[in-house]
Amino acid sequence: MKALLTMWAARGLSRALRAYCTSAPCPRPTQPPRVSIRDALVSQNSSGHSIKVQGWVRSVRSQKEVLFLHINDGSSLEHLQIVADPSLDNGDLTFGSSVEVQGLLVKSPYKKQNMELKADRIEVIGHCDPKSFPFKYKERHPLEYIRQHPHLRCRTNALGSILRVRSEATDAIHSFFKANGFIHIHTPVITSNDCEGAGELFQVEPSKKVKELGKNFFDVPAFLTVSAQLHLEVMSGAFTQVFTFGPTFRAENSQSRRHLAEFYMVEAEMSFVESLQDIMQMMETLFKATTETVLANCPEDIELLHKFVAPGQKDKLEQMLKNKFLIISYTEAMEILQKASQNFTFTPKWGVDLQTEHEKYLVKYCGNIPVFVINYPFDLKPFYMRDNEDEPQHTVAAVDLLVPGVGELFGGSLREERFHLLQQRLARLGLADTYQWYLDLRRFGSVPHGGFGMGFERYLQCILGVDNIKDVIPFPRFPHSCLL
Ligand code: 4AD
Ligand code: MG
Repeated sequence: MKALLTMWAARGLSRALRAYCTSAPCPRPTQPPRVSIRDALVSQNSSGHSIKVQGWVRSVRSQKEVLFLHINDGSSLEHLQIVADPSLDNGDLTFGSSVEVQGLLVKSPYKKQNMELKADRIEVIGHCDPKSFPFKYKERHPLEYIRQHPHLRCRTNALGSILRVRSEATDAIHSFFKANGFIHIHTPVITSNDCEGAGELFQVEPSKKVKELGKNFFDVPAFLTVSAQLHLEVMSGAFTQVFTFGPTFRAENSQSRRHLAEFYMVEAEMSFVESLQDIMQMMETLFKATTETVLANCPEDIELLHKFVAPGQKDKLEQMLKNKFLIISYTEAMEILQKASQNFTFTPKWGVDLQTEHEKYLVKYCGNIPVFVINYPFDLKPFYMRDNEDEPQHTVAAVDLLVPGVGELFGGSLREERFHLLQQRLARLGLADTYQWYLDLRRFGSVPHGGFGMGFERYLQCILGVDNIKDVIPFPRFPHSCLL
């Protein structure tokens, strides 16, 4: 409020001055430009220039002769050091309070930072009582603790770094697809299909019955999407390479550290693709290129997380990036698991899905290098996967990528493009009527095609070494929890 009043006062003053100087040119009172802390820190102007910064106090150190402040505005992990006369502190400058500081940006005499701000004005915009603020100065709170304060946790260094990396990775993924000729498609959030056929759907209904429309708002049952794949398949009948990157919803009753009810999925679909090899190549290139970009663009944030949140993760990630990903078949995976000396809770058996404990074992067995598991049992997978027609061990052309620390990161497949095989399969499942439009895609100019989906939060967990998926999304949603 005080800031607004100051701004109105300044505007008012400048209007008044302009009205007063109608004929003769009159010098305007100039406001120093507002600069982000990230830009201030990398400034090359060593002779000093007047600027204004805004942010939150991360430390206050008042000495007899000089007052040191560190402030952060979220633009970088590093704080800007403010040097001021102690008289500028009237006691309101506390850890967590918001401030506006004006002064001269100069080269810092201290080795640790490039620039510092010699303040001539410090205004506290919003007070913060350090006693009741849940985070304490100089304390490194564990992620489990800060998770209990979902509305305030973005003010910690750890969450700040995670969310900056998340933003950078989002950008890197879009750039990757653009550079590789993919068209970005906005697929719907509300849909009438259950792509994965697993029945893990959230149903969408108006909160009040919309009487004029009769029974249902959409006339058919509608749900939040579990995957954009089928919509991307529609698009791949006209565009040879498409992708989407959006919120995805699954009503899985899982409290695990790698499941969310709302997560982001990166999905790609490629036409005229006949082999799983091409799909795997694209998955591996996407993973490696995105990670290289993120490492290059946010080194400080990654370093903080690798140092304090996941020691040892840096080496693990280097291993993943420098080695070619491995490929084994589901049948081989089962043989490895059955020969293992480890006692699993779920006995590995051909025809049964891989459990997290199996995925972990396989990744370890492969020397902690990501491994593609291909050709899963026909009966385990959704209707759209391409039949390998390989009786007696009947499989489909499916692929999952398993990575260290997380397990399944990508799921993909070749799609069944052959009309008659798809029609038979849908008929057997009683889905032929519902999926007439999907069969049409095979009726009119069908092409061999395939694609994949990557869980974005699991990707962040994998590169950062963050153990719990709830810590890499700003507002986690999971069973019994929809805070804020
Ligand atoms: O393996 P999924 O179920 O594959 C599909 O949905 C395909 N239709 C994608 C495609 O081919 N276009 O999901 C893909 C990935 C998983 O490998 C996992 O990383 C992530 O999405 N995922 C989840 N992430 C967080 N919470 C959940 N509940 C997730 N369910 C899947
Ligand atoms: Mg899967």
